Amino acid sequence: MKKSILALAAVALIGLSGSVFADESSEVGAKIYERSFGRGCGTCHDIASNPQLFELVKAGKLTRASLETVIKEGKGGMPKAMAAIMEVGPVKKAGYGEDQALDALFAYLGSK
Ligand code: HEC
Repeated sequence: MKKSILALAAVALIGLSGSVFADESSEVGAKIYERSFGRGCGTCHDIASNPQLFELVKAGKLTRASLETVIKEGKGGMPKAMAAIMEVGPVKKAGYGEDQALDALFAYLGSK
């Protein structure tokens, strides 16, 4: 009996910390979108003639891997953005590395 209560508590704790982490991650992702390059990705991407990132992720047309390639190498009018992303205050504060920052950004883009 005691053991099963302990097991239940452990499962609840793991579940709880998992969801707290997911929230923190997409919160940091939102800050990346809003603050990179000072004015955010939306400065360009909220214009209809440029790729609509939220729609692309939702439609499965922009994968985590292709996001990483574009961010690191740039693409046409899209500037390289990895360094700018790592400069965003909440990314530094969370102590995120590049992979974690890209995970957070991708999670945010898929969440809206
Ligand atoms: C100076 C304007 C500008 C800024 C700032 C900018 N982008 Fe872009 N981005 C573009 C343009 C223009 C394209 C289309 C490039 C092409 O297809 O030739 C693009 C393309 C992309 C693509 C590829 C989409 C596809 O169709 O495959 C991704 C992903 C992307 N941007 C992510 C971001 C993210 C994330 C940020 C913020 C960190 C950002 N961009 C900031 C202009 C910008």
